Amino acid sequence: MSAKARQKREAGSARSSVVVARWYQGARPSRTQVVARYSGLARVAAAGGAPVDTPDEQEIDGCGGAVYAGSAAELRVPEGALRASMACGNPVAIAELFPGDRVLDLGSGGGLDVLLSARRVSPGGFVIGVDASPDMIDLARVHAAESGVTNVDFRLGYLEAIPLPDAAVDVVISNCVFTLSTDKPRALAEAARVLRPGGRFGITDVLAEPGLDPDRRAAAEHATGCPVGTLTADEYHELLLAAGFAAATITRTHPIIGGLYSAIVRATTPAPATPGRPDPR
Ligand SMILES: C[S@@+](CC[C@H](N)C(=O)[O-])C[C@H]1O[C@@H](n2cnc3c(N)ncnc32)[C@H](O)[C@@H]1O
Repeated sequence: MSAKARQKREAGSARSSVVVARWYQGARPSRTQVVARYSGLARVAAAGGAPVDTPDEQEIDGCGGAVYAGSAAELRVPEGALRASMACGNPVAIAELFPGDRVLDLGSGGGLDVLLSARRVSPGGFVIGVDASPDMIDLARVHAAESGVTNVDFRLGYLEAIPLPDAAVDVVISNCVFTLSTDKPRALAEAARVLRPGGRFGITDVLAEPGLDPDRRAAAEHATGCPVGTLTADEYHELLLAAGFAAATITRTHPIIGGLYSAIVRATTPAPATPGRPDPR
């Protein structure tokens, strides 16, 4: 076990029995249940514990703060922000960011990706984190205050109704969140709506191999903390195009369990019909 995983496990002694409860056995959870679950995990993190969002709280290789190359000090983020991570990949490493970019992190959780991105878009850029859990928003704001980063904002809202106007941002990032949406077509359409023409979408998510036995697939989804359901690459691709994205690529990064794997999903919104000032990127 890595030092980071050990630290996380030791810190996990602060977990509450409410969080440990196997809340999502049986039918797929509703959005309200998903958000309540993550609110409980945010409170665990706020109390100094280490949230793990699998039903038996067993960490899965390739998930959590261990996907980031470095300690909190090396990453220059508060220790609590790294400990609260429930990532399945590092979207900050896969989305190109430039000074001046306006970035949106969907399902921002404890705020780690927002804080890491904020540095990369300085000077002139900013990062907004949106999450449906008020406890996660509070946690992320504490981490932002600890880090001293000022070009960030955290807003309460759903993926399926993003609290931003059309074409508000240049880049959308997200880390292990779209799999939790109970209305993925709507969530992807909302991401396309808030991106400017020619904007970039770069996320990590958990996907399913094609042709899995439905019962085994559902069992793997529950075991990995993705109980709402995963998409195959083909299904994802189809939904991205239907949502209004012009081009999409899906790159597998590492296996998880039972035919599920982590992937980088990238797409762009159609470029403006009449280009104005050339985009320096
Ligand atoms: C697996 S955690 C990932 C958090 C963060 N991206 C990270 O890497 O640590 C999922 C996050 O998405 C949020 N979430 C789940 N469903 C959501 C929805 N429909 N709209 C907005 N946020 C949602 C949860 O509250 C939680 O903070």
